[in-house]
Amino acid sequence: MQKTNLKEKELRANLKAVVSNPIKTTGYNDINLKQWKDYSDVRTDTLWEFPTRLKTGGHTNEYHGNYIPQIAQQLYKRYTKSHDIVLDLFLGSGTSAIEAVNMDRRCIGVELKEDMVEHVKQKFSPKQNVTDVNIICGDSTTIEAKEKVEARLDVMGAEKAQLLILHPPYDDIIKFSDKKEDLSNCATTEEFYDMFELVAKNGYDLLENGRFAALIIGDSYKNSEVQPLGFRCMERMQRLGFILKSIIVKDMQGNERAKGKTANLWRYRALAGGFSIFKHEYVMIFQKPKK
Ligand SMILES: C[S@@+](CC[C@H](N)C(=O)[O-])C[C@H]1O[C@@H](n2cnc3c(N)ncnc32)[C@H](O)[C@@H]1O
Repeated sequence: MQKTNLKEKELRANLKAVVSNPIKTTGYNDINLKQWKDYSDVRTDTLWEFPTRLKTGGHTNEYHGNYIPQIAQQLYKRYTKSHDIVLDLFLGSGTSAIEAVNMDRRCIGVELKEDMVEHVKQKFSPKQNVTDVNIICGDSTTIEAKEKVEARLDVMGAEKAQLLILHPPYDDIIKFSDKKEDLSNCATTEEFYDMFELVAKNGYDLLENGRFAALIIGDSYKNSEVQPLGFRCMERMQRLGFILKSIIVKDMQGNERAKGKTANLWRYRALAGGFSIFKHEYVMIFQKPKK
């Protein structure tokens, strides 16, 4: 009887502690679930519309093929905590790194093009380039790139990254360079998937267990047929062990460059060829299993 009373007392004390604690989080972000109604800016739906691209906070629209900073903002709020490290294996013009600094996160980025790497480094102070942002020039499909990221993680006092961002070329829609290692230069779309999977595997190994990855990608047309790049890359990530959490459709009408005469040409081609003009891309969210 006495034993039961003790157990009950202990339970009541625990319950009181839980009720009186004003903070409850998931452990992978800073959202206080006890005040969940205060986060109306965090999107939880599968349709993302951003009528205009954010051009403040160090962001410019200088790089054809960059993603809009609002995507990074949403991902960081939901899937990272302050000081966490974001790993972007296709850094491009550095959108992920700029927004990491703006939001008190850190970033390691890998990019193939030397000139772009040097350009992005200039966007940060020498101190930031050591403490907050680490940019590596390399081929993200390789073990060498993975080892370089591990070395930078070590310098930043971490074993793994807390968020992975993958924004690959959309096959050969935009040619980013003449390099053979460039995913936009693959001989076939199948080869593109294979190279993408090598990068995603590196990302998987470099990501902390239980943490999230985002794949930002659109589809393409080739030989009068839709190439579902998003879904095929999604499958490659799933087969590596990533758990699919969300398929978000993002309106890209603010991004598209086809205006005026080009838009009319595409409309004619659509009507004549029986296809539809892409107005969306995907933001797919995955989680690495906890163990
Ligand atoms: C779609 S862009 C990423 C743009 C970036 N998210 C931004 O906002 O600026 C893809 C980038 O991947 C780079 N890339 C292509 N193949 C690569 C590889 N094997 N390793 C590393 N980067 C690569 C390209 O040079 C290009 O800058």
